[in-house]
Amino acid sequence: MQVIETRVDTSSDEYKRRYEHNVGLVAELRENLRKAAEERSEKAFKRHTSQGKLPIRERIARILDPNTPFLETAPLAGYGMYDGGVHAAGLVSGVGIIHGREWYVVGNDAMVKGGSSYPITVKKSLRDQEIILENRLPVVNMIDSGGAFLPEQAQIFADKWMGGRVFYNQAIMSKLGIPQIAIVMGHCTAGGAYVPAMSTFVVQVKKTGAIFLGGPPLVRAATGEVVSAEDLGGADVHCSQSGVADFYAENDEHALAIARDLAQNINLPTKARVPSREPQDPKYDPEEIYGIVPTEIAKPYDVREVIARIVDGSEFEEFKARYGTTLVTGFAHIHGLKVGILANNGVLFSESALKGAQFVQICDSMRIPLVFLQNIMGFIIGREYEAKGITKDGHKMVAAVSCATVPKFTVMIGGSFGAGNYAMCGRAYGPRWLWTWPNHRISVMGGEQAADVLVSIKQDQLARDGEQLLDEGAIQWIRQPVVEVYEQEGNAYAATSKLWDDGIIDPAKTRDVLGLALSASLNAPMDPFGHGVFRF
Ligand code: COA
Repeated sequence: MQVIETRVDTSSDEYKRRYEHNVGLVAELRENLRKAAEERSEKAFKRHTSQGKLPIRERIARILDPNTPFLETAPLAGYGMYDGGVHAAGLVSGVGIIHGREWYVVGNDAMVKGGSSYPITVKKSLRDQEIILENRLPVVNMIDSGGAFLPEQAQIFADKWMGGRVFYNQAIMSKLGIPQIAIVMGHCTAGGAYVPAMSTFVVQVKKTGAIFLGGPPLVRAATGEVVSAEDLGGADVHCSQSGVADFYAENDEHALAIARDLAQNINLPTKARVPSREPQDPKYDPEEIYGIVPTEIAKPYDVREVIARIVDGSEFEEFKARYGTTLVTGFAHIHGLKVGILANNGVLFSESALKGAQFVQICDSMRIPLVFLQNIMGFIIGREYEAKGITKDGHKMVAAVSCATVPKFTVMIGGSFGAGNYAMCGRAYGPRWLWTWPNHRISVMGGEQAADVLVSIKQDQLARDGEQLLDEGAIQWIRQPVVEVYEQEGNAYAATSKLWDDGIIDPAKTRDVLGLALSASLNAPMDPFGHGVFRF
């Protein structure tokens, strides 16, 4: 394979300026992640640990094999929402390694409002389950939750993509043969009682673990019966009398040890295979990405320089290198696994869209996973391009990406605007995982353009009605709030808070994140390819 030869001058002022800027963005990201992981009230911390319970991140560290990575899902979901304290949406989840295999590990953070579920928590639970189902990952679920966050019940309970869907999904997982180990470490109340009930195995911790359809306060209110949580749904009741739980644990550590033993005994199916070879580090340091990515999102640069710092040996077999040059396509390996890469190098023209569609079909037909490095201002517009059929050609790429059944992964390494988001496998196009970089911006179009469109519509209306056109002051009065709203809604933190992605990642870690996710995706069998490849 051809090695990408870099043209980056690491001693230039421009490189140093970009490096400093991007290192600053990564430092800000690390600080936000630290706060989300650690900032808890002293009261909540004391209440939790005084019961002998381990904090959620400690629980996760102990269930995983020592010194193995944990690919956390959306650690900044819920960022800035509600009172600003619903860190990670009150739920820590992700892919980790247990006895050498990838498992999906989920756990409530009981130090965030008793582990109760806000609307964003439910959205994250459903995203977790989507990852589990698409990648057929076995699950460990550590439950410690006050159930629905009651003041927000209208946003949590009744609709299709709300709380009930969690248990429906558990039944479907079970039908597909996905093992689910529930560890009851705190309360599982009301609907939450179904989380262990629907699982393959239930481990329950003495004293702190409790399962009931109605907790003690509700039982008292409804029937007048006064009963303690332990007598109502503790481990003694469920392991000795009801049979709801299968394994009795003395404490958190014991429960985690039982779960690890269970995981070892489960006969997981053989993983799907993709062409692979010995992993190799890139020829260039991935941290050089900091000095390559421009400080302004719209500024062009050669995306091959980024590819060179993500793929094994910086080797890249470029497909159609001289055609449709605003989209770079080609084959490479990431941590030894073969992938097809599509990366933006400018606006999408007809030729680049056709090339993209053909390349996606080739990879799909050869069962090679797809990696999209998305940095897209949109498709080209204007009379000439409409007449040439840009909509028709864009459709081919959108259709090819939608229908591809190989695992797809998207990293938004810059802007994501307009239909370019769709063609480059945005969230709605089913990538198994989607991450962003801290410089990321996303909206239907740029804020300035949206403001200009709205001013233009208003001027047309006034002209049509024979009225006086807007003066400069009035134009700014319309423009300003639009630009401000787009600025706020379109930054990486606003997007990840709403779970439009699976997390903001450090650009220098992109290759490792992709490597673990690629490996995890192979737990699901690959569907057969359904039609021939078209040379458009
Ligand atoms: N909705 C809203 N807030 C909730 C909540 C819920 N379902 N469950 C807990 N909380 C809040 C508490 O109000 C408290 O908030 P604060 O710190 O601002 O005062 C915080 O979470 C911690 O709760 P606390 O009761 O102090 O902690 P605990 O460790 O003693 O008990 C629970 C935790 C979950 C056992 C207990 O809070 C409880 O029983 N919650 C209600 C469970 C229930 O009936 N849910 C019905 C869901 S349909």
